[in-house]
Amino acid sequence: MPYSSELKALQKVDRLRVRKLENTKLIDFASNDYLGLSEQKELLRKTVDEVETYTSHAPKSSQLVNGYHPIHKNFEEYLCRKNGFEEAIVAGSGFLANLAIIEALPRKKDILILDEEYHASGILASKLISAEVKFFRHNDMDDLKDILQTNSYKRAIVAVEGIYSMSGDLVDKKVFEICDKFETILIVDEAHSVGVVGDSLLGVFDLYGIEPNKNHIKMGTLGKAIGSYGSYILCSSHIAEFLLNRAKSLIYATAPSLLDIELARVGFLYIEENIELFKKEIRRRREIVKRHFDYDMSGLIFPFEVNSSKNALKRQKELDNLGFSVAAIRAPTVKKPILRIIPRININSKSFESLCNFLSRREP
Ligand SMILES: Cc1ncc(COP(=O)(O)O)c(C=O)c1O
Repeated sequence: MPYSSELKALQKVDRLRVRKLENTKLIDFASNDYLGLSEQKELLRKTVDEVETYTSHAPKSSQLVNGYHPIHKNFEEYLCRKNGFEEAIVAGSGFLANLAIIEALPRKKDILILDEEYHASGILASKLISAEVKFFRHNDMDDLKDILQTNSYKRAIVAVEGIYSMSGDLVDKKVFEICDKFETILIVDEAHSVGVVGDSLLGVFDLYGIEPNKNHIKMGTLGKAIGSYGSYILCSSHIAEFLLNRAKSLIYATAPSLLDIELARVGFLYIEENIELFKKEIRRRREIVKRHFDYDMSGLIFPFEVNSSKNALKRQKELDNLGFSVAAIRAPTVKKPILRIIPRININSKSFESLCNFLSRREP
């Protein structure tokens, strides 16, 4: 068989990945549905009612052909109002949005500078460009500054995540100052910070009180706290115009699903309605982790370190037997294996306490 040796090699070091059907009998501490919106059937019903009022319920073609629908526009206008950006563009997924931005914006003679823990979609896109690409040490602002000072370039484009998807680290606020000072374009991937941090739960711009400027780009995903699927890019009108002319995953792809985009709009409104309750529940989960592990979660990602890939799988199995579903994340996604635990706020805190009790008694 053509790939047997590669697959065997993965198996040997406990890195072989397999898909498993979700076991709904387990309590889900694995998925990114931070606020439990994916199970709120009233949001689905509202969405279907709204989409049914239009002639077509499918996007049918690219946004640049005939697929840009009032549902997309309505959602984009909502996002601009809420986040204070000039323009929004919906995209098929966070992966496609990162591909769009990172493949299109850095041109020849530019420099792209990414945090070394930036998401795989950005890393992949960075391999497709002719601009110079550099990585700075994770969340190390001195290293970022050093790269900006010691390289020559026409434009610099810096890419960070609001909350890093695996380590759960919060981006250093200084990145905004540094990028302003060096007049770089700054991309903030807010996949894991929207719905989780900030006074209005809008992510790190909101948390740090940053007024968006013409060089800021905020990417948000809809498949995590928002309980839908898809993504959006917020930026200046100028950058939006460029992306719509150059970003291949926006131009050469069918526009995002209307049902998903409307579901996301309805999801955002639901967060607004329940914001104080959600913030209280998020705080409660953070207190539990602090009490059990003396660890400060910035968002709702608790990376429980384990000492080998083998143990990651073993602990995962043990938790599975106790009725808990968690993710065992191994190389190459992370350098050191972890159990990635998401204390989703729709699961009562007592269940989360039992999971923490079990883990805190275990050797890593
Ligand atoms: C930081 C980050 N960016 C982008 C993505 C891709 O988003 P999507 O799952 O919507 O394609 C993910 C996750 O999957 C992510 O964790």
